[in-house]
Amino acid sequence: MKQGKNTVNPEPYKWKEEYKVDISVIDEQHKKFLNIINELKLIINTGSCTKKIPAIFYQVAYLIDNYFLKEEIYFKDCQYPNFEQHQTQHNLFIKQITQFQKDFENKKDNLCLDIYNYLEHWFNEHILKYDKEAAEFLKQKGVN
Ligand SMILES: [Fe+2]
Repeated sequence: MKQGKNTVNPEPYKWKEEYKVDISVIDEQHKKFLNIINELKLIINTGSCTKKIPAIFYQVAYLIDNYFLKEEIYFKDCQYPNFEQHQTQHNLFIKQITQFQKDFENKKDNLCLDIYNYLEHWFNEHILKYDKEAAEFLKQKGVN
């Protein structure tokens, strides 16, 4: 498929060894995140955003309800010093997803592309930096 203004590189992201933090719950979450990003690539390139986006919202909500909470419980239990800062990032993410849901109701153009860019950014900025740093701390406290 030719890559145009409203399409993205169709090559799916692959899970890499270097992404691993070696805490199973967190790695599991991050793999699911990458899968959602890959699914969005397909949705964007096949122009099926309106039809398929509710399923994406559902999957993202699942991650928020399960994994964000699990991370936060670990942080609290282990007295992670950057807990509040990290939780603030999670809350901003939740706020942004809520905004995207409103955008969907308002039939905003190129919404899937916006969500895709946001999730990709989140993967690189939050998951590969903040979660990795937090996981190092948790492992020292015996979490695995
Ligand atoms: Fe996190």
